[in-house]
Amino acid sequence: MSERVTRVALIGSGFVGASYAFALLNQGISTELVIIDKNKHKAEGDAMDLNHGIPFAPYMKIWAGDYEDCKTADLVVITAGANQAPGETRMDLINKNAHIFKDIVDDVMKSGFEGIFLVATNPVDVLTYVTQKYSGLPANRVFGSGTILDTARLRFLVGQEFNIDPRSVHAYVMGEHGDTELPIWSNTNIGGRLLSDYQRKEGFPSQEKLDEIFVNVRDAAYQIIDRKGATYYGIAMGLARLTKAILWNENAVLSVSTLLTGQYGLEDVYLGVPAVVNRSGVREVVELQLSEDEYKKLHHSAEVLKKALQSING
Ligand code: LAC
Repeated sequence: MSERVTRVALIGSGFVGASYAFALLNQGISTELVIIDKNKHKAEGDAMDLNHGIPFAPYMKIWAGDYEDCKTADLVVITAGANQAPGETRMDLINKNAHIFKDIVDDVMKSGFEGIFLVATNPVDVLTYVTQKYSGLPANRVFGSGTILDTARLRFLVGQEFNIDPRSVHAYVMGEHGDTELPIWSNTNIGGRLLSDYQRKEGFPSQEKLDEIFVNVRDAAYQIIDRKGATYYGIAMGLARLTKAILWNENAVLSVSTLLTGQYGLEDVYLGVPAVVNRSGVREVVELQLSEDEYKKLHHSAEVLKKALQSING
């Protein structure tokens, strides 16, 4: 049976991009991958290196290409740009990367691209917003990795606390992928049992423990960058998860950076919320019942992102 060709165009073959490409190949998520990088030599090297692994993985056509190759791509994934140096916040990258994005998005759109943009470069919420504006594509077809990795970090750490597989921990981090993100403890459940029920009946885990877990989630990138200079495996696997939800039309609920148009009382801002992802991009935002404190913190995060955006436009 002839399989449908699914083409991913990866813009940026640095640590994150190359790790994402490696995840795509090993999980057999798309049938084609074109790697585009301003350093074409590096893109060629990554394509060659990945091609030599094909005998060990599902077949995939992989090559180093150019923006023209985006024309028939289902998905363009942008990882290009500067990443955080030790001690730098994601917001510190804003002007450097916003400048790069204008050229990237223009070059993709010149190819006649009509697919979906998935943005990973930081500050991801702001850069996803500008990608949607620069491209003029409908907002559902332009979204960012958002808090998908923060949510995975939270699920992992809560799973460790309960000695439960993180895939059985259902929890979200929402808001900015950054210092103002927030954990949605009110909706957290472990195998269907509410966290608050454990706390009421077993008196475990304490609020201090939850606060400690959240600080480790929020500051994970700083801790990893301090040790190895960059983060890339976790985000690459999150991007691969999103790619699969799109290309396989999964209607999966994942926390992504998408444009709010009134949900949670917010509009004209991209930030991390649970959303249904399928081959059209973001099908819809899932509106959770938040506590008053969570609602306030989400609005604070949105304000920080709107101010950051003005600093670009200013
Ligand atoms: C991190 C990067 C992807 O949180 O922002 O690891």
